Amino acid sequence: MNRRYRKTVIAGNWKMNMTASETKQFAEELKKIMPRAKWCDTLLCVPSCNITTAMKAFKDLRLSVGAENLHYEKSGAYTGEVSASMLKDLGVKYVIVGHSERRQYFCETDQIVNKKVHAALNADISPIICVGESLEQRESGVTEDLIALQVKSALYGVPADKLRRCIIAYEPIWAIGTGKTATAEQAGEVCSLIRAIIRNLYGARVARSVTIQYGGSMNPSNAAELLAQPDIDGGLIGGASLKPEQFVAIINAANQE
Ligand code: 13P
Repeated sequence: MNRRYRKTVIAGNWKMNMTASETKQFAEELKKIMPRAKWCDTLLCVPSCNITTAMKAFKDLRLSVGAENLHYEKSGAYTGEVSASMLKDLGVKYVIVGHSERRQYFCETDQIVNKKVHAALNADISPIICVGESLEQRESGVTEDLIALQVKSALYGVPADKLRRCIIAYEPIWAIGTGKTATAEQAGEVCSLIRAIIRNLYGARVARSVTIQYGGSMNPSNAAELLAQPDIDGGLIGGASLKPEQFVAIINAANQE
């Protein structure tokens, strides 16, 4: 973390979990233990059908509500999809874009990810842009090239003043939901690489202002070590964000002066 130049952000990604009733129950439990997170921003990205419920339930918790996905078109015949303006109208400030599960199961390409980034930014919503390699890609030595391609494609056409609103999340696919975390050094190395790519594209001043998160089996026991890396400015947390006490423990790890 480096709070001098950028925000630390702890974000949960609930994926396809939690009903509206479970969301209310989660909020009740969280209320008892949620710290006043002075040193980091906190948010939870929830299924779109639960956004309104979560907004009401988390109102007194200093916990922003984000979305997990959006469509890049403004409106139209796209059955089942949700637009940026619909999210904006609900008060959403963050949206996850390009998660590896969406790339893998819903055929999202780098071009689609780029269109979604623009759609979010045009609606004043901060995209949390996910990038990451598979185990096969890591073992064949293409991690750096792949990350560079994903970052450059996602940010294509994004001007510097809007880049400040973007968060990049490095999520190695082999560490997601597997209990296998990247070591702090492995994660820190790729996050530094992402910052170097942004530096080449936008210059040093912009690069140092961008929040870069790590995601992939982050939990209460590894969070502090990961967050101690200079280029890791927070976490995107799946499984552990479904359990109030684990989510809070990770927030506490980030909420150190
Ligand atoms: P886990 O924390 O469950 O590994 O999920 C990480 C993730 O995909 C967050 O977007």
